[in-house]
This record gives sequence, C-alpha cells and structure tokens, in this order.
Amino acid sequence: MSAEAPHVKGGIGQSILRKEDARFIRGKGNYVDDVKLPGMLYLDITRSPYAHAKITAIRTEKALKIPGVLAVITGKDLEAAGLAWMPTLMSDKQMVLPVDTVMYQAQEVVGVVADSRYAAADGAAAVEVDYEPLPVVTNPFKALEPGAPVIRTDRAEKSNHIWHWETGDKSGTDEALGGSEVRVAQDLYIPRIHVSSMETCGCIAHMDSVSGRFTIWMTTQAPHAIRTVFALVTGLPEQNIRVISPDIGGGFGGKVPVYPGYVIASVASIKTGHPVKWIEDRSENLQADSFARDYHIHAEVGATKDGKVTGLKVKTLADHGYTDAAANPSKFPAGLFHIITGSYPFAKAFVEVDAAYTNKPPGGIAYRCSFRVTEAVYTIERMMDILAHKLNIDPAELRLKNFIPPEAFPYKSALGWTYDSGNYAGALRKAMEIIDYAGLRREQAEKRAKGELMGIGISSFTEIVGAGPSQTFDILGIKMFDSAEVRIHPTGKVIARFGTKSQGQGHETTYAQILAEELGIPADDIRVEEGDTDTAPYGLGTYASRSTPTAGAAASMAARKIREKGQKIAAHLLEVSPDDIEWKDYAFRVKGVPTKSKTMAEVAFAAYTNHPKGMEAGLEAVDYYDPPNMTFPFGSYICVVDIDKDTGQVKVRRFVAVDDCGTIINPMIVDGQIHGGLTMGFAPALLEEIQYDEDGNIHGGTFMDYLVPTAVETPNWETAKTVTPSPHHPIGAKGVGESATVGAPPAIVNAVVDALRPYGVEHIDIPIHPWKVWQIIHGGTKPG
Ligand code: CDP
Repeated sequence: MSAEAPHVKGGIGQSILRKEDARFIRGKGNYVDDVKLPGMLYLDITRSPYAHAKITAIRTEKALKIPGVLAVITGKDLEAAGLAWMPTLMSDKQMVLPVDTVMYQAQEVVGVVADSRYAAADGAAAVEVDYEPLPVVTNPFKALEPGAPVIRTDRAEKSNHIWHWETGDKSGTDEALGGSEVRVAQDLYIPRIHVSSMETCGCIAHMDSVSGRFTIWMTTQAPHAIRTVFALVTGLPEQNIRVISPDIGGGFGGKVPVYPGYVIASVASIKTGHPVKWIEDRSENLQADSFARDYHIHAEVGATKDGKVTGLKVKTLADHGYTDAAANPSKFPAGLFHIITGSYPFAKAFVEVDAAYTNKPPGGIAYRCSFRVTEAVYTIERMMDILAHKLNIDPAELRLKNFIPPEAFPYKSALGWTYDSGNYAGALRKAMEIIDYAGLRREQAEKRAKGELMGIGISSFTEIVGAGPSQTFDILGIKMFDSAEVRIHPTGKVIARFGTKSQGQGHETTYAQILAEELGIPADDIRVEEGDTDTAPYGLGTYASRSTPTAGAAASMAARKIREKGQKIAAHLLEVSPDDIEWKDYAFRVKGVPTKSKTMAEVAFAAYTNHPKGMEAGLEAVDYYDPPNMTFPFGSYICVVDIDKDTGQVKVRRFVAVDDCGTIINPMIVDGQIHGGLTMGFAPALLEEIQYDEDGNIHGGTFMDYLVPTAVETPNWETAKTVTPSPHHPIGAKGVGESATVGAPPAIVNAVVDALRPYGVEHIDIPIHPWKVWQIIHGGTKPG
C-alpha cells in the first residue's frame, strides 16, 4: 500500500471542528465540581468583613453544633502544622489562614468541614470572630508615604515597599529625551480587574491514609509545578502526589496561583481521612482571588519634529495588594513589561517599576497576557497617539513612519529583547484597507463640521509569548520548558500527552493537527491528553500564550524523533538502506521511486510485529522543548466609535483586527481566540473595574456592579490575518491566545479620545464609562 495524498486529514492550516466540543456542547464536560467521591466532605470558608484588623477571638462552638458540621480549621491549627503561611510563586508569603491579623476584605479566616455543602455554608456563617479594626491603606502612593501603617509586619523590612526593578539605559534615555525636539508625557492608570472565568476555582483533596497517596483534582493551569510546590511545602514524597486538572472553564492566569482554599481542603482531608471538596462561589471568586493590573504609569516619549521616535522613559507604581502573588518568571518581577518599546525602534529606553503592599487581595495576575504585556502595549500605543496629536500627524502615518522594518529582523530592542520576525506595516496597511481608513477620516471631518462625535483608534502591538528559553525563564527555580510524549500504537493510532493544560483553547484539536502534519496520521486518530501528573510528562502549564511556542514545538520534535526511527523500519520493510528513504508527502518513500513507500501506520505495525533485528520494539518519543527565543506575534487593530452626546454612551461601530501569529494551525480556533480576546480587551476599556473605598470595602464584588460584557454589549469583530512565520519555531507558529486582549484596549481608548478631541481631551483613564464622557461633553472637565 502506498500513500500519495498531498494532504493529511486534519493537518496544519485546516479549520477542523474542535474535538473537545463534542462533550462541551452536550454538557458532558468533566469539571472539578463534577467529580464526586464516596465519603466526600465539603469545605466552606468564613471570611473577613474588614480590610485590616486584629483578630481578638474566634468562637466556633455554634458552628460545631450545626448538624453535619464535623470540624473547623483555624490559623492557629495550621500554625501548629507549620502551614499558616505558604510561599507565593513570586517568593513572597501568603496566609493560608490568619493567626492574628487579616489584611484584606473577604480574606479567609476559618475553614468549616461538613458532610454537605449546605451544612458547611451554615457552619461558616455561624463562626463568630471578634475583630479590632486597624488603619487601612488602599492607595499605593499613600502606602509608600513615611508614617503609613505597615501592612506586612511579619517582614523584616518595616515598610510597604516590596521591590524596585529597572532596566535600560537611564542616563542615555535622559540624554535622548533632553535632546529631542518634541516630548510628550502622560500619567496612565490601568485599574484592577478580575479574570471572571466561567468556572470558579475549586478542588477535591484526598489523602488516602492506607496507600499514603495524596490526590488533588484542582482547577490549575500548571499541574506539575503545583505538584512540586506541594511536595516542597508539605514534605510529602512527590511520587505520592497526583495533581489532576480535569476540564477547566477558563483560566486566564487566575488559575495559576495556589489559593488558601486548596490548602485548607488538603489539610481537612489529611485531618478527616475523607476526600474534601471546596468550590468557590461567584462572590468569593470576585472578591478574594488574585487580581490583575493595578499599574500607575508615567510615560514620556521623545521624537524629532518630523515624528521619528528617539527615547522612552517609564516610571510605574504597581499595587500588589497584601502579597506579591504574581506568577511571573522569577527574574522579572514586573513580568515582561519591558516589551514596552513595542513596534518602534527606540534607540534609548528606560523602565522602572516599584511595587507596594496595600490592604487588598493579592494582585499581579497576568490576565490573559504574557506577564504585564497588556500594560506595556496600552502605554506605548496610547503614547504614540498622544505624540501624533502633538505633532499634528495622522496616527497611522506616525506608526508607518516609525515601524521596525521587516528587513531589520531579528531585531534587538533597546530593552534587550530579540524580536524574531515581523511585518508591522503589512498588518497596519491591511487593516487600513479593510476598514477604508481614508474614507473614515473624510467621514469624521464631515461629522465634526456638523458637531457629531466619531473617533478612529489604532493599536499596532507587538507581543512576546512562549516562555521561554530556560536560561532566562523559571518559576520558583523550575525552568520554563514544555513537553510532549507521543506513542503510536500497532494499528497506527496515537496517544499524545503534554505538560500544558488547556482551559478552553482547544489543545486536544490543535496538538493533534501538528502531529497529523508531522506523522501523516489523520487528526481523528490522535488522542491528546493533558492535566494528569501521573501520566503527562513534566511541563510548566498553560498561560501567557506559551503552549503553541513550547508544547506545540515539543509535539513536532517528538514526532520528528519518531520519524527517525520510522525511517529505519521503513528501510527494513522496503529492503533498502535508511539513507535511501525520505519522508515526503506524509509517507516514507524510496528516493527517486516515490511510489515505493510505507505509511506511518504500516511502519507502526511493523514496530511491534516485524522490527529490524537489534532494534527496540515500539514507536514512541518524548521531547522536552526548550525554545531558543520567545515568539513575537503582532497585529494592527482599528476601532471606529460613535459617541452619543446626550448620554455619553460609546458605541464601537466597527473593529478590524489584523493578527499575525506566524503559521496558523487551525484558522477557526485562532479566530475564536481573537474573538474572545477582543471581548476581554473591550471589557476593561469600557466596563470593568474593581474599586475599593478608603476603608478597603470592595466595590465591584458582584456581577451587578462588575460589568462583564455579554453578547448584547459586545461589538461585531472583523478579523483578518497576515502570516510571518517565526524563524525558530519548528512549524513557524507563534502564540496567539492573548494578542487580542493585549491589543484591543488602546485601539478603543485611542478612538474615544480621537472622538473627543474637540473638547481638548488628551487622555481618559479606563474604564471609559458613559458618565466620564458625559462630564467631558457637558461638564467641561478634562479627566487625566
Ligand atoms: O497557551 P495557550 O494555549 O493559551 O495559547 P496559544 O499557544 O496561543 O494557543 C491558543 C490556541 O490557538 C491553541 O489551540 C493553539 O494551538 C491555537 N493556535 C493556532 O491554531 N495557531 C497558532 N499559530 C497559534 C495558536
């Protein structure tokens, strides 16, 4: 039998339907809360009403009298076991349960274990706690003032300052800015927001005291790293720990940290000998899980008077809440914020970031973003518009004048990154053509003359994803590679396991497509599994759009190792030398006689039934892929808004997103990623914000006032692509999951500011609620 088909079913570039959707659309997914074990108990948590207070007494008698309540766990119980505090992924400490002080509203105070979820909830409500309120600090600038109440009295440093980090050429940048013909500066605040994934966090912890095995089903994006951290913190032998991440309903970075509930449930299981389930409710998720953003930025850009950028200087204060629980690579406390020079060839740049503690829940989540890239892109893309306005140059023209040209790649940025490939002008020109940019500008001029408010906003972003080269990237010392293990069964069917963990991205489909392409086996015949540390090879998990650049590459490399062995088996079957065999058109073929060939399925059968003498049986390979560099996806987005003068309502009339993520594995899935990402970029631009009052009370702790966009608010997205492959990725692919979340906010804000130029507006902080706009139009205010 020979195979000459030039395509393989379900290979790269085909919009095949998502394999996982067969169970999701039937309501047959298997999420943590679907797992039910015999004898399972339930944990609920009593939380603090105060943002900062001393605990003077905890009374649990009433709770323990509630029928079904079996045990309570306090900070003192955990302290006795050395577990009252746990490490965060950024080498800070986080309370599991407080021994004497609470530091944010909704903080966990007491765990209650019962034989039903309802009894546990009644028990948690019946716990009585006496508090003595302490002074509260919610503003990071005030937190750093001399005499501010010190929040983390457990630390040797008696201040709320966490760390200072800087990179770039400070004096060179000052010189470049000083010598610039034009300079613009702006304060920008990116408020706290919350990932609000559809599924909240939860776990079932089960310590089997007979076998000594500890199994935890949990909503985690990084099961292997969690297993190692559990082993290090508890002293349990790692081979006895099994972390299972079943289906996950959205992670977006919020399911990377370890939350106290996971640890309390684990302790409860060890204490009771039963499996213990903990599932957050929606308000707990919104009020107490780690938050994203909260960056106060001051940026300055210099340029020549004909619009060539010269220097960029950025000073930022990061509000981390009461602990730095970000999941950044350890060398980069401010994540990859230094991608902030963006798509432009700044000769000089300097960035500094200080982080402060406040009485808020942990902050620093990389919400659908590769570690602070959203903050960076927002800053540079706002600044380019502010510069364009100052120079009286069209913002598209200013970008086209400055873009790093395609021939300059690989390009080394002033802040030290080597961009792999790009064609920025190509993406912007395509977006301008699709949306008819020139026509829109004409329409805008006509409307302005009539007093109507219409704005056009551009964002030409560069992302940095795929952490990462292990030389530079680690989390708590664990290097950031990722893995694939591929095994071909005798009948030519494949099982492949990965160190990453999909939370809705469609890995079961796209990894199968990469393997289909590399092995010549239809994607339908390839089963992909992730999320069980007992079976999957070690990996660092899925966040920061790293799966395709790392585990996707590992899939290719493992398949190519299989092909090397397959070549020898094919040679044996075809009775020629292995050197006379080539892999072409999805089969092993005799060079010069392509009809003499063997398919991978034939070779697989032989690997178990007729392999050459002296060769090991079987056909499988593992690859731990350490990428040589990050990948740098990019895109240009253009947004058109109309503003209703009477209500201040902003309507996104059109939004064109041209993305470039190199080789596209599944165009339909990539479009889905872009659509979701755009909606998650639209949300913080116009709707979402978590605020606190001066007493640390959360505003935005329910979906009544934390405005997540529904299908009603979400605009119609128009998408298009350019393809500039990554030169170092085995199939030329770059990550894409986060591009749109990162690229959308500045396009929308630039459009709104553009519409409001007649009122002298330079900048409006997000979210741009209608009342802010209305005040500009009717109140004559110019919000900073
Ligand atoms: O790490 P994460 O899965 O969140 O991000 P990603 O690597 O950007 O992938 C998101 C989804 O888009 C996955 O299913 C990818 O395989 C798919 N993708 C693709 O089809 N083509 C690309 N060039 C990049 C991603």
